[in-house]
Formats: sequence, C-alpha cells, structure tokens
Amino acid sequence: MRKNIVAGNWKMNMDLETGIQLFNEIQQLLKEEVNGDQEVIICSPYIHLSSLSQLVNPNTNLSIGAQNCHQADSGAFTGEVSASIIASTGAAYVIIGHSERRLYFSESNSLLAQKLDTVLKNGMAPIFCVGETLEQRNNETYFEVIKEQLTEASFHLQGVEYRKMVLAYEPVWAIGTGLTASPEQAQEIHSFIRGLLADKYNQDLANNMTILYGGSCNPKNASELFAKSDIDGGLIGGASLKARDFVDIIKALNE
Ligand code: PGA
Repeated sequence: MRKNIVAGNWKMNMDLETGIQLFNEIQQLLKEEVNGDQEVIICSPYIHLSSLSQLVNPNTNLSIGAQNCHQADSGAFTGEVSASIIASTGAAYVIIGHSERRLYFSESNSLLAQKLDTVLKNGMAPIFCVGETLEQRNNETYFEVIKEQLTEASFHLQGVEYRKMVLAYEPVWAIGTGLTASPEQAQEIHSFIRGLLADKYNQDLANNMTILYGGSCNPKNASELFAKSDIDGGLIGGASLKARDFVDIIKALNE
C-alpha cells in the first residue's frame, strides 16, 4: 500500500524564530487533532533543518526536508549545500525539480538526474516535482512535457531506488496563483504518470508510488483533490505557512 503524505514547502519564508514557532504549532495541532497513518513533511530553508529535526517528537509521523541540494558530494562550491550535509541534520527528504528551481535557476532535467542520485546515495528520499506551464497546458503538449521530465531526470534509476522517491505533480500555472487544477485535471495526470511508471518499471512499482498534487492546494479544495484515486496527498506552499490551514489540509487526507 502506498503512503499518504502531506508535505509543506516553506520556500524562502520564515526566519529561524518564526519557523520554530510555526513548527511547534503544527506539531501541537497534529498531536491534538490528527490520528491517521499519513506522513507529514516540513521542507524548510536549510538554516532551520537542524533545529527542527531536534524538535521532532519521535511519536509523530513527522519528518524534515530540504528544498534543494547541490549535485556534488562536496568541494569548492561557495554558498552551496550538499546532500550529505543535509542528511547530517537529520532531514529525510529533499525537494528536487521544483518549477521555481527549473525557472529561476535554470535547472535542467539532466542536472536534476544528478541531484536525484546524490539525494538517494545519501539515504534520503527525493520529492521529485514535474509539471507543465500554462503555455504547455494551452497548447496541449503537457503529456509530452511530463513524460520528458520523468524520463530524462528519473528513468535512469533502478526500480529499487525509484521506490524510495515521492513524486509530485505541480502544474506551474497553479503554483501560488490561486488557480488550482480541477480534481479531474489532476487525476488525469496522476494516472498518466502511474501508467508511465508501469510501462518503464512494473505495475507493482506504479501502484506503490506516492504521487502528490501541488498548486494552490488549500483547506477548501484539499478533500476533493485527495478523494481522487491516484492522488496520495499534497505538496503545499502558501497554506503550509499557517499551522491551522496546513493541519486542516492534513485532516482532509483522512476523510
Ligand atoms: P502553492 O505552492 O501551494 O503556494 O501554490 C505549491 C508549491 O510550490 O509547492
């Protein structure tokens, strides 16, 4: 059975103090209100990783993740952070291939392939994001775009490695815009992705991969999205910065 996951992507928000406050609020609400078997992941700025890891209550299904890493193991890359440094903080996940990284930092599929490798090699799980732009949605090339992103960045992996990853479908036109993919649009892509995985690997792997939806997911639309058979949770940006909203989205997974 695949895992249900809600992951928060704080992006470049929250200083250390307000980040710790938010984390503690989320953890408290989880303890009081949530008792499903879902996993919750908080992807904070690098600076917070070590502090947040130490605050995790071992009785909760809560993990910490980073939002990016450098592809090399170590070396003269001023200002960069490697997967092994991230792993040493206690983080268990790293978001790879977020559309903001692809767009603002020109991250290509071949670079992302190297980043997936280094995250896996360091014993963590990538949350690997794919998704089309508005233009690609409108000119109906989105199936090819998503197939290319998956193929070029991730299909070099062996099945045993692939199973450790989490995938996220994030239509770029829905991120931070208030526009959400309809549950039917999201389901269509999630099911398409599962089909690609079945063709490349096998049906068992495809059935067991967790595929998250991301893009203006909020407490109002989460239930409808999560009700779809191939949507196993969410990657949440803006709404993960408010403990109440984030925990309400998590509760929507258990409805
Ligand atoms: P959003 O961001 O929920 O603010 O749209 C999602 C994401 O970028 O992961």
